[in-house]
Amino acid sequence: MWIENTQYDFSYLRGYKQPASVLIAVGGGKGGVGKSFFSSSLALLLAHRGFDTILADLDLGAANLHTYLGEKIEGKGINEYLLNPGLRFEEVIRPTPYANLRFVSGASEGHNISGLTQPQRSRLMSALFNTPADFVVMDLSAGAHDTTLDFFLMANRKVLVMTPEPSSMENAYSFMKAVFYRKLKRHEAQLGLTDQLAQLMAQRQELGIRTPADLLQWVALKEPRGGAQLKHFMQALKFEIVLNQTRSMHDNELGPSVKAVCKKYFGTPCELLGHLDYDNAVWQALRKRRPLLIDYPQSRLYSQLFAISKEFANVPFKRAVV
Ligand SMILES: Nc1ncnc2c1ncn2[C@@H]1O[C@H](COP(=O)(O)OP(=O)(O)OP(=O)(O)O)[C@@H](O)[C@H]1O
Ligand SMILES: [Mg+2]
Repeated sequence: MWIENTQYDFSYLRGYKQPASVLIAVGGGKGGVGKSFFSSSLALLLAHRGFDTILADLDLGAANLHTYLGEKIEGKGINEYLLNPGLRFEEVIRPTPYANLRFVSGASEGHNISGLTQPQRSRLMSALFNTPADFVVMDLSAGAHDTTLDFFLMANRKVLVMTPEPSSMENAYSFMKAVFYRKLKRHEAQLGLTDQLAQLMAQRQELGIRTPADLLQWVALKEPRGGAQLKHFMQALKFEIVLNQTRSMHDNELGPSVKAVCKKYFGTPCELLGHLDYDNAVWQALRKRRPLLIDYPQSRLYSQLFAISKEFANVPFKRAVV
């Protein structure tokens, strides 16, 4: 699928070397695994720790992230931003009832992820990239649309939420694969390796290329210089996994095996941020329209989320995107 002629959107980087905040993308192939629950909880915890945090609903077309913050956040959102080229992004960043947390609501009507034009996508990516804050947490759509992949790739921290169900794990691997090949596509053109890669793919049966990691080895063999650079770029792609809705010890043990498979298959680093218990309090809080973290600070789930948020709070700011 990587051979298809798609263009990686790089335009948002024009003139900028690094984002004005730490950008955290929360993605995952399957719907309903807990991306919105996790991104809203993480944003609330970072804000609670005193970081200037923006939570952005990029699940265009099915935006419902505001429900995790409880109250309706009034005012303009991404829909208006996309429709009105004169509107500045600052004008769609809304205050929330929570200290240090601001919110950008998604486009529930008029736009969905597949309907964005190239200029709209670039403008939105530039805005996210250049908005000054400590953290911008981006809640992404399910699926692996090109725009979703580009949002994911532009982030400094690439979080993938999955549940222990086989279908969710399968979708998570497909999502990783789609991310991998989209990034590869961008760098192969940059390094002049397009023909070499196409040749290798055509011969993959004979050469025994079974995984993206095998492919990278072969490129390095055929084109030592470009191949080494490509490997270097691809190794900068680090997935950070959150295993959500775990119900047993057995479920928790899946985390390390996902990490190992990911490393072996892609040859890129993959970290397990942690697992989150399945807890009825999540839907109870949603129904009460109160964030779980506010109402259930004694729960195990709270301490699991708190531990994960530390992983973000302790890193140096504004690392360059590669
Ligand atoms: N740890 C958990 N324990 C119990 N229920 C959970 C947990 N995490 C999420 N849920 C429930 O799962 C459902 C889906 O969660 P969420 O909306 O966060 O998923 P999503 O990945 O954002 O879905 P979509 O792709 O449709 O946007 C919600 O009803 C939520 O209450
Ligand atoms: Mg969601």
